[in-house]
Amino acid sequence: MAALKRKGRQTKWGHKHLLGLRELSREEITYILDTAEGFEQISTRSVKKAPPLRGKVVVNLFFEDSTRTRNSFALAANRLSADIIEFTKKSSSVSKGETLLDTARNLEAMGIDIVVIRHEAGGVPKFLSRNIKACVVNAGDGYCEHPTQGLLDVYTIRKIKGSLDGLKIGIVGDIAHSRVARSDMWAMTKLGAEVILVGPPTLMPGEVGRLPVQVSYSLDEVIEQVDVINMLRIQFERLGGNPFPSIREYSHYFGLTVERMKKAKSDILVMHPGPINRGLEMESEVADGSNSVILEQVTNGLAVRMAVLFLVNQAAAMKV
Ligand code: CP
Repeated sequence: MAALKRKGRQTKWGHKHLLGLRELSREEITYILDTAEGFEQISTRSVKKAPPLRGKVVVNLFFEDSTRTRNSFALAANRLSADIIEFTKKSSSVSKGETLLDTARNLEAMGIDIVVIRHEAGGVPKFLSRNIKACVVNAGDGYCEHPTQGLLDVYTIRKIKGSLDGLKIGIVGDIAHSRVARSDMWAMTKLGAEVILVGPPTLMPGEVGRLPVQVSYSLDEVIEQVDVINMLRIQFERLGGNPFPSIREYSHYFGLTVERMKKAKSDILVMHPGPINRGLEMESEVADGSNSVILEQVTNGLAVRMAVLFLVNQAAAMKV
């Protein structure tokens, strides 16, 4: 990847949109993580602000609910001195029939610079990026990608383990409906980890044989081998039919219990993107236990999202 030059400055980042991690190189992902490291210390200052996005406007355009991603982007924009507009589907003119594109173009007419979008339909961020002038950052689209979640997950692992090269990582649960699993898989394998997807066959995506991962249907076998285990939420709002006989049975075979943790490596990292269905994907004692880095993931998400907003804005300024 060629470094871009402008007025004597160089950057290894050349994209004004962040749509997914599948299309990024190891070097580009590493560059975002390194940039995030530089932003981490802003949150430890008494005045938690820096000026890079002063005068810029960021829109949080969320068509699905969110706690972590939405607030993290809002705080990241705030810390970088941008103005932030919060959009929710329920209180907008979408309820009167306005289209997504008309919504985005009307917001753009107010002079926005970056759109952070979450939508239940896959491909919406890419569609927007082709039809508006502002930078577009994907905050989760359908089952496709959740790139900033993937980035904050690998950032957290790298921070604790030093590198992902040679690590074994299990991603467990509702793989079929998970955009987190897809972004994680791309980021983790590009950074040198071996990924094992674990879950019932009914929750594996049809394309699993074409992905650069291993597949297992037994958490008991995988838990002994892995350095990191990422437990996914069962996405009840996206399930069609009954992919498993009962919640009790799912939990019995695929839940991360205190008993199952006894077989794990002593320094295993336990991750979850949130929100957690406690008692289903994992027991509370594990979610709150000494191997859990779930809240560190949330903390690191702020630095990662600051880096992403900073880099897409910088690329737009360079007109790439
Ligand atoms: N991990 C994640 O995307 O959480 P939210 O749905 O709360 O944003």
